[in-house]
Amino acid sequence: MTQDELKKLVGEAALEYVVDDSIVGVGTGSTVNYFIDALATMKHKIKGAVSSSEASTERLKKHGIEVFELNEVGKLPVYVDGADESNHLLELIKGGGGALTREKIIAAAADQFICIADESKLVRRLGEFPLPVEVIPMARSYVARQIVKLGGDPVYRTGFVTDNGNVILDVHGLVINEPIKLERILNNIVGVVTNGLFAERAADVLLLGKEGKVETIT
Ligand code: 5RP
Repeated sequence: MTQDELKKLVGEAALEYVVDDSIVGVGTGSTVNYFIDALATMKHKIKGAVSSSEASTERLKKHGIEVFELNEVGKLPVYVDGADESNHLLELIKGGGGALTREKIIAAAADQFICIADESKLVRRLGEFPLPVEVIPMARSYVARQIVKLGGDPVYRTGFVTDNGNVILDVHGLVINEPIKLERILNNIVGVVTNGLFAERAADVLLLGKEGKVETIT
């Protein structure tokens, strides 16, 4: 199976976790796009969705799925999203698509976080994928200098503005032995909005597309 076929497989497998009559938390990215397309086949069984990006909102609406503001929603049983990397503890690096802040907010608000990914995303240690950090624009150089002191090599994602009007630094070269600790340290730098480590709130379930099948890792 190709990588895209594996993404489609796990996108469809995530439907099993969707709760009838609920509002579904929806992430961002090419894997999630397959989930959205699959969700459309059961749209009459759900109330609607909360979306983590303008791109996902557009796709959901195109399918006729109602999109709610998170503030309007009480209970959010399930959030489905992809990842750039996952370790075996289901701690993640996310934000390759730049939607990390809204993704982290919805993941925090949801009872269950289902991560969907093809097998290339499962790693022994996080950090080969450059860690995205969303930054208030005026703090960009200051934050970059602080990250260099931590041993990282921040690269400004040129020409990209997040849905929140901020910029992204992609941090290369970090050795991430303690994801929770690093997540906290980065969050403490003034000017950082969010970093792409999802370790304090890791995924609860990883649906991994591997060798033509879906492996469920908890
Ligand atoms: C977007 C994300 C995505 O979940 C992550 O980049 C994975 O994307 P894809 O499914 O396209 O590989 O965090 O901010």
